[in-house]
Amino acid sequence: MNRRKFLKIAGSASIIIAAGGVGFVATRTPTEALKPWKTAGLLYTDPMRRALSFAILAPNPHNRQPWIVDLKSDTEAVLTCDLERLLPDTDPFSRQIVIGLGCFLELFSLAARDQGYLADIQLFPQGMPGTKLDLRPIAHLKLNKQIGLISDPLFAETLNRHTNREPYDTSRPIEDQKLQHLIKATNTEVSAGATNGGKLLDDLRVLTKDAILTEIKTPKAFQESVDLMRIGKAEIEASPDGISLGGAFLEGLKLAGVLSRKSLADPSSQSFQIGLDMNEASAISSMGFVWINTKGNSRTDQINVGRSYLRVALQATKDGLSMQPMSQALQEYAAMDLYFKTIHDRLANKPGERMQMLARLGYAEKVGPAPRWPLATRIKEA
Ligand SMILES: Cc1cc2nc3c(=O)[nH]c(=O)nc-3n(C[C@H](O)[C@H](O)[C@H](O)COP(=O)(O)O)c2cc1C
Repeated sequence: MNRRKFLKIAGSASIIIAAGGVGFVATRTPTEALKPWKTAGLLYTDPMRRALSFAILAPNPHNRQPWIVDLKSDTEAVLTCDLERLLPDTDPFSRQIVIGLGCFLELFSLAARDQGYLADIQLFPQGMPGTKLDLRPIAHLKLNKQIGLISDPLFAETLNRHTNREPYDTSRPIEDQKLQHLIKATNTEVSAGATNGGKLLDDLRVLTKDAILTEIKTPKAFQESVDLMRIGKAEIEASPDGISLGGAFLEGLKLAGVLSRKSLADPSSQSFQIGLDMNEASAISSMGFVWINTKGNSRTDQINVGRSYLRVALQATKDGLSMQPMSQALQEYAAMDLYFKTIHDRLANKPGERMQMLARLGYAEKVGPAPRWPLATRIKEA
């Protein structure tokens, strides 16, 4: 980080924050946008909506929240994908979008189980989409009451799991046993691997750093992220999705005229440079990586990956580990070709094997939740 540059910017933001007084800092939390984390399981009495109110807290790419639920009854629903919420530039085949829907389904299933219901999830009941997603359902959901079900201990971590993009503590290695826990948390349909040291860790730090910096410097790909950035409380409350840049400091930068979507996308601006520096610092501080692979790359494979990724993320939370997917090298667009090939040559050894998720790991200060649209806005009633 260019220290002098940073201090200059921080200075102008501090003036704004100071001018606003203590009240400014205290009122910057987007309370409405974070409400779904406070109300999960509390607003509804029927098992379907209760389970869904947890499912919407699932991790998902760029926090697009592409789920739409067509509610048939208190125990039956159909999940479809909102085709307005795809990421065509960085996720051209919607592979990651489908993984996010897999995370949603696993959390739905865990929440249902916690209430004593088995979730019967029938994937792609009207057929599997090809390279483009369509309006056909992703899954048919049915809840069946079952006596004697025991809640999965991972479910208890749901409200504590948050993607952590901060630099991790480089003085604190990750215990081998914790890597084993992560691998064990996955379902049998996928294969998983992990590292916490040696040349592989060093190489993955550099590869994920290079891939993310390349993405930021690829205008079309980065613009997709910039368009989804919500800067400051008012924008976050108005659109509780995408990439939120909240808090008094960033809002101060916005008011100081240093931070805007335009400046974030402009390679000659300070905010663009700071974005590069912050992403580099985070990638390089990774103390471990975990990855999830599949033998093929069908839509069902992608759902299975999401189901496993959700479990791995909950297990990491249980073990006090922070985690952040570093998806760039696995993405299917031209600027990523070299990284994609390099990482597959290294970590996907069998012919046709596909790397689906790669996430950095480490110890770090806890971060808060990301915004969510309330469940009611994602439901279509019959
Ligand atoms: C398939 C998939 C890919 C993701 N890729 C990235 C990524 O490359 N970088 C990142 O910071 N977060 C990534 N995420 C995390 C999401 O951005 C995050 O889940 C979302 O913003 C919601 O925040 P939360 O996980 O804290 O609830 C990914 C998540 C999924 C499911």
